[in-house]
Amino acid sequence: MSEYESALSGKRVLVTGGSSGIGLAVAQKLKGYGATVAISGRDQAALDAAAQEVGAIAVQGDVGVEADANRMVESLVNEAGGIDILINNAGFGRFDMLLETSAEDMESVWRTNVLGAFMVGKAAAAHMVKQQAGTIVNVASTAGLKGFARGTAYASSKFALRGMTECWRDELRRHDVRVVLCNPSEVITDFSRRAGGSQQPHPKKLIPADIADAITGALVTDPRGFVPEFSVFATNPF
Ligand SMILES: NC(=O)c1ccc[n+]([C@@H]2O[C@H](COP(=O)([O-])OP(=O)(O)OC[C@H]3O[C@@H](n4cnc5c(N)ncnc54)[C@H](OP(=O)(O)O)[C@@H]3O)[C@@H](O)[C@H]2O)c1
Repeated sequence: MSEYESALSGKRVLVTGGSSGIGLAVAQKLKGYGATVAISGRDQAALDAAAQEVGAIAVQGDVGVEADANRMVESLVNEAGGIDILINNAGFGRFDMLLETSAEDMESVWRTNVLGAFMVGKAAAAHMVKQQAGTIVNVASTAGLKGFARGTAYASSKFALRGMTECWRDELRRHDVRVVLCNPSEVITDFSRRAGGSQQPHPKKLIPADIADAITGALVTDPRGFVPEFSVFATNPF
């Protein structure tokens, strides 16, 4: 058994937004190392296709709806007896100038990226505190490190996620629960298209598997220690 398999085999994992992009790549990678994986997303057909591809449990729902957020965690706990790892990844962007950003746009981005992450994180943390073990990986963004034009809704949501991560980390490490922040730079996924934009393909831009590799590396660190935060950049996408 490889070092990664012995650290991850049998671990019970929930990946929110596991039907596409980064979440799907993380689900695939962890399943490959022997973890029991549940994935969530709103689009039932996309979720079912991804779950079949990965061999994962599918839990349809919207992280921004509290009953759904709780059900995502409870489904894994009921099926597998607990939750060891949460990849708090579901998210989307809107990229308008301040004067074109409506309160509704702002609220919808924050509902998924901040409130959704909070609700799933809280539900998972309740079990992890009882177990006195577990790891939460919040998937933020380099947009949560530095603001930019058109970033009012998205960048602010990722700054907020980073702030929440620091609070949870301080509270939960006292229960042997690790809270990790992952800040991907641009990754080739459906994210830009869904945000109403487009993405220039480039063979040296990051792909979802790169983020999955980085997250897996943080997860296999012995539970005695943890990587609090990391960013992932493409080396030379110019
Ligand atoms: N791609 C990038 O360049 C990049 C860079 C930095 C950070 N990120 C972050 O990485 C995360 C994953 O993004 P991605 O690039 O992999 O995008 P993606 O391919 O569009 O995947 C997003 C996933 O999240 C799910 N999702 C979105 N809103 C949801 C909600 N309210 N409830 C439940 N599931 C929801 C989507 O499924 P449904 O739509 O079916 O719900 C999908 O499975 C996001 O948090 C994003 O902000 C992405």
